[in-house]
Amino acid sequence: MRDFLAQALQESPTRDLMVYLLGNVPGLPPIAQSVHIMGIAAVVGSIVMVDLRFLGLALRNQNVSEMIRRLLPWTWYALAANLATGLIFVLARPLRYFYNPVATFKFSVLLLAAALAFVVYRMNRREHGYWEQSADRLLVARVIAGVSLLLWIGVMLGGRWIAYSEYITDPFPVPFAWEELQAYPSMGARQICEMPLKRPLRLVVPRNPRSGR
Ligand code: HEM
Repeated sequence: MRDFLAQALQESPTRDLMVYLLGNVPGLPPIAQSVHIMGIAAVVGSIVMVDLRFLGLALRNQNVSEMIRRLLPWTWYALAANLATGLIFVLARPLRYFYNPVATFKFSVLLLAAALAFVVYRMNRREHGYWEQSADRLLVARVIAGVSLLLWIGVMLGGRWIAYSEYITDPFPVPFAWEELQAYPSMGARQICEMPLKRPLRLVVPRNPRSGR
């Protein structure tokens, strides 16, 4: 399934479009990355604050149901912004992310964290004050909050670590598209070095236009 999806994306026109946009829309890569980071700030400012409130570590004088009602919509907006900005990079270089174990970790943990946030939000929406109705519910909410905090920390560590995962696993197990690796040097230095060369390597030294040498 993963191989099929990765290969399909790798060969799709969407990839060409994303590579084109990243290379030709002035400032797109840093702008997209900055919006991604603003999204992270909004996630931390919304769901993470609710988690800390449940755990009694922040904003103890605030009503937690009201916090959920007001803040969690920002979590969804932030996740949408992160999805849009993150997908630009994933679609441009699917192999880099599909076969990167740290990316797998990040996205798995992200799914779990978002699912927990959704449960907290949904129950509060169905019944305002749901989590404060009984000691049992409050306990469940605190467990969810603790797990959620750990998961969000995992998402952030994973996100930051993706760029450095060659240090822990090189080469990544990519079962196809060896030639494509030439275009994706960050897939793993050792893979590139071990690749059979199609043509003998030739060192080309550009001429100096003034001296002609
Ligand atoms: C919703 C879908 C998301 C997608 C598709 C996505 C995708 C990406 C991608 C492709 C990168 C660049 C990684 C690299 O090549 O170095 C990245 C970076 C990162 N992501 Fe996400 N991400 C998403 C959501 C999130 C969320 C919700 C968080 C945290 C709350 C997060 C935290 C990070 C961090 C900390 C970085 C490193 C940023 C940097 O150092 O510039 N991501 N993400």
